Amino acid sequence: MYTTAFLDLPPLLSAGGTVRLPGSKSISNRVLLLAGLSEGTTVVHDLLASDDTHVMLEALRTLGCDLQQDGDTVHITGLGGQLAVKDADLFLGNAGTAMRPLTAALALLSATQGGVFTLSGVPRMHERPIGDLVDALRPLGCTIECTGTEGYPPLRLAGGQLELSAPIKVRGDVSSQFLTALLLALPLVSQQQALTIEVVGELISKPYIEITLNLLARFGIQVERQGWERFIIPQGSRYQSPGEIHVEADASSASYFIAAGAIAGIDTPVRVEGVGAASIQGDIRFVEAAQAMGAQVTSGPNWLEIRRGTWPLTAVDMDCNHIPDAAMTLAVMALYAQGTTRLRNIASWRVKETDRIAAMACELRKLGATVVEGEDFIEVTPPATGAWQHASIHTYDDHRMAMCFSLAAFNPLAPTAAAGKPVSVRIEDPRCVGKTFPDYFESLFQVAQTDPDLIPVITVDGPTASGKGTLASALAHRLGYKFLDSGSLYRITALLALEQQVDLDDAQALEALARRVGHDISLRFDGEHIWVDDRDVSDALRREEVGQTASRISAVPGLRQALVELQKAFRGLPGLVADGRDMGTVIFPDAALKVFLTATAAERAERRYKQLIQKGFSANLDEICADLEARDLRDRTRAVSPLVPAADARKLDNSALTIEASMDTVLGWWVEGWPHVIAGH
Ligand code: DC
Repeated sequence: MYTTAFLDLPPLLSAGGTVRLPGSKSISNRVLLLAGLSEGTTVVHDLLASDDTHVMLEALRTLGCDLQQDGDTVHITGLGGQLAVKDADLFLGNAGTAMRPLTAALALLSATQGGVFTLSGVPRMHERPIGDLVDALRPLGCTIECTGTEGYPPLRLAGGQLELSAPIKVRGDVSSQFLTALLLALPLVSQQQALTIEVVGELISKPYIEITLNLLARFGIQVERQGWERFIIPQGSRYQSPGEIHVEADASSASYFIAAGAIAGIDTPVRVEGVGAASIQGDIRFVEAAQAMGAQVTSGPNWLEIRRGTWPLTAVDMDCNHIPDAAMTLAVMALYAQGTTRLRNIASWRVKETDRIAAMACELRKLGATVVEGEDFIEVTPPATGAWQHASIHTYDDHRMAMCFSLAAFNPLAPTAAAGKPVSVRIEDPRCVGKTFPDYFESLFQVAQTDPDLIPVITVDGPTASGKGTLASALAHRLGYKFLDSGSLYRITALLALEQQVDLDDAQALEALARRVGHDISLRFDGEHIWVDDRDVSDALRREEVGQTASRISAVPGLRQALVELQKAFRGLPGLVADGRDMGTVIFPDAALKVFLTATAAERAERRYKQLIQKGFSANLDEICADLEARDLRDRTRAVSPLVPAADARKLDNSALTIEASMDTVLGWWVEGWPHVIAGH
């Protein structure tokens, strides 16, 4: 997952290949609650690992459910309708799918069995209305106090006296989650009589109610539905664990890949696995909406394949009430359509993770689109030809904003794009996707392709022990970029040469060996560890003898040439930080930012000394210093790729700087240069 402050998406040129999607959030949290209320143990497979499910799991644990987690399978032993804990403070983050049903369930349980529960969340959660649910529960005799603003969390649930003979009325026109909450919780108090729920106002997001009814049935509760106005929970309903249950992949998450296929599935389709035509999720109907805009879709029960069909996409005028979440994806697809797309009946966008109509309008305008925003609709016209703008997309702590806007990175394909002038798309706070899809960007980069020249590279060159490795890997981590420690390739070649007793003066033999590295000699990089043909050589590579040999053989032109393609192949989405001696001069002369790092020989010797002692090697400071200077001289004066700063490198002497301070300086240069550095080729 990208935990960076922002993620810069390089311009993307095509999409194709397979993604497996994480489990559905809506299904995951409903199943968790139902399992938590049931008697006995339920094994939940393919559970989504996300912020919202984490919050629900923690709440159930606090309430006394026994939970055993094993990867994406969770064993839950439920309460069987009996409170095990009678006082609890539950923190529910920004998870509406936890707040609403837990409010209903705990209000009813505290009214019948006693106990006091407080439910709170992040500040945004305290701005998301819950009044319609509170108004449905209070007339039943539940004591519910809104401890902040009336109609909003935090809530305090403190007992009451239930009176259930009259039909239970709930508004259905702001959020369907209130009705879902009641449907999930009311079976708890259905022992004496059947319970009737009457929906006031036109029910929105009906497909989510279908998911609720479907899952209730899996847990043994058959709700009688009369139109969309009346729901009857039979007397004596009891939650019965199905034993095992599989969570299907999230259909809303599929929308981004369906869109990617429609926009950029040019030669090969994008294949989505885990959800398909047999889905119980309403958002699967996004497929029809995408088809209306031009996508070519084939499907099986649990898979979809999408390619580009009509191009440019067709602008549509569509009622999106049935697919509120996935419809956001249509708004971004509209950037690739001819004409104006109008999405109607989406008032619920205003009460989601953020006011999504306002947010969508603001961010689409940044890219150059013309947007008309209404109380319950949005109209999007793509930028005029050549009028696309670089944009730093604010994501409002809303996972769907981040995921939707990643699709703007396909802008070079837009019918209105100016030739050769892709715009940069920066996604702010990319980790917000963790709400439902922590590995979203990794999945996107798995199916998106681009020209390597469009992928930004930051090079960090400098003499040995200048701290470039530490700086470069920290930078890569902070930016979420790939990392190339080019010195390790020379060290690997040196290690193999020593082991295989290759004559170090035989340039041809050395070149031949280097050509095999990364080809028939396999390499694997994993954090601190490097494997060569499945052998962990990380420690061996750090040996002084290996470093010395690397320095010596790196003067062989044929050997250097042999490693060029291997180094270039590290250039991958979304970007690369490469450290070495000639990264900015020879391997990536088109790098977006070149850093040349130095420190005094004395300071570098000191660092190397500490490093060796820490690793348990014996070391002598004077020898190290002499050796460093000799190696510097050799690296600087060799005939091929001598160690010199690139003409356009920014120099940084870090003798007196901490790693953090060096990082801040370089990140400052990077931020300062945006977006020109990326789009400036
Ligand atoms: O960065 P390092 O100390 O791990 O590198 C080991 C040797 O490899 C170094 O002495 C010089 C050589 N090298 C090189 O010539 N070009 C690079 N890009 C990286 C390393």
